[in-house]
Amino acid sequence: MRVFTIAIDGPVGAGKSSVADEVARRLGVLHLDTGAMYRAFAWLAIQEGVSLADEAALEALTKRALPDVLYEDGHQRTLIDGRDVTGFIRTPDISMAASTVSKAACVRAAMVERQQALARERSMVLDGRDIGTRVLPDATLKIYLTASPEARARRRLEDLQKSGEDASFEAVLQDVLRRDRQDMTREVDPLRPAPDAQVLDSSDMPFEHVVEDILRRIHLRLGHRPRPAEAFTPMYRVARVAAALLFNVITPIRYHRAEAAQMDAPYILIANHLTMLDPLIVALKCYRYHVRFLGKKELESNRIARWMFQKLLMIPVNRHNMDMAAMRACLKVLKEDHVLGIFPEGTRHHEGVMQSMETGIAMIALRAKVPLLPAYIQGRPKAFRRINVYFGDPIPVSEIAAKGVNKDTCAELMQRIGQTYDALTQMAGDPR
Ligand code: DC
Repeated sequence: MRVFTIAIDGPVGAGKSSVADEVARRLGVLHLDTGAMYRAFAWLAIQEGVSLADEAALEALTKRALPDVLYEDGHQRTLIDGRDVTGFIRTPDISMAASTVSKAACVRAAMVERQQALARERSMVLDGRDIGTRVLPDATLKIYLTASPEARARRRLEDLQKSGEDASFEAVLQDVLRRDRQDMTREVDPLRPAPDAQVLDSSDMPFEHVVEDILRRIHLRLGHRPRPAEAFTPMYRVARVAAALLFNVITPIRYHRAEAAQMDAPYILIANHLTMLDPLIVALKCYRYHVRFLGKKELESNRIARWMFQKLLMIPVNRHNMDMAAMRACLKVLKEDHVLGIFPEGTRHHEGVMQSMETGIAMIALRAKVPLLPAYIQGRPKAFRRINVYFGDPIPVSEIAAKGVNKDTCAELMQRIGQTYDALTQMAGDPR
């Protein structure tokens, strides 16, 4: 396997370190916890009585001692000034102190250089705040792992309680928010997703699912296609083969960030709608599931068409009135852990960018409480002229769904979807 580096960045308490550790273990490579290096340095500064705000003193300290790492049974031990400090650097005081020293440009420069040297020439998973943006701008894959502040505070609290520390949820939440502010607003390399990072919101995901999700993304990036997680009908398989031929040879398509489409079902795949080929275009990269598309009833114009669409497991919808049967069928598909495919514009548009959308989609997502995976098809397929398809990051819905399913929450979700498409079209270099 070629040498690869995986960058996992994100805010405090997103679970980066334990996720990175497990991902690295499963890949048989080393994990570099860069936060531990800042923590070790902060620990030493405190031991030496150096003021954390005194940049000159911190710089002098970087000249004298920088953290080192070594691996024992694949696990990182962090050393500084000849001492193994692994066991001393997980306290709330050191957390805050590490965040403070990490603001100093001289400290960051020294750490980044050391991290780059460690990651040179061997495959590694690195977790931190600036891996994708600064340490390894050419990383093989960049993940920005995040979660809501509440979910992160809950996890932090559990960790603290496990290690016998006493703390209240409110205090931990305030600490999380304070460190977020400090890490995101510092002048040098503030915490933010790299433009080419894939954002993974783990608020509603158990640890094991996050690990599996990231591993699938890495394997796909390294050229290994994931296996189907469910049976495809023979008709669907035929359609996939035809699509693969078509989009590799006659109307070539370049897919971007298809890793995002390998997440666990249930989810709703949404896309803008330009031509009859769109279902094939977006479903081709969902390697693991047979995508059940919602399609207008008019498509079943004769017996053969009806037979074909039934074999493709299409859900017919009557677009001229509220089709409750179609709504129920959509919810059933999601309840049974499948992928639902919807073109929210309701009909094809020729302008390309996402036009006004039907709010039924928000209703389904909120009622089923499943994330939406957006895809943006840039242009109509043309013979021998390449078009691009961009997959976005999944849009989580649980926070909005917790407020109920009503006109306001549907409008809120539709607005989120609109913002996501703004970002996707911008990524594709298209005007909105
Ligand atoms: O990931 P952690 O909580 O162990 O990190 C401790 C602090 O170190 C964090 O508040 C910000 C800083 N840090 C950083 O600035 N850049 C990194 N790559 C890793 C950590």
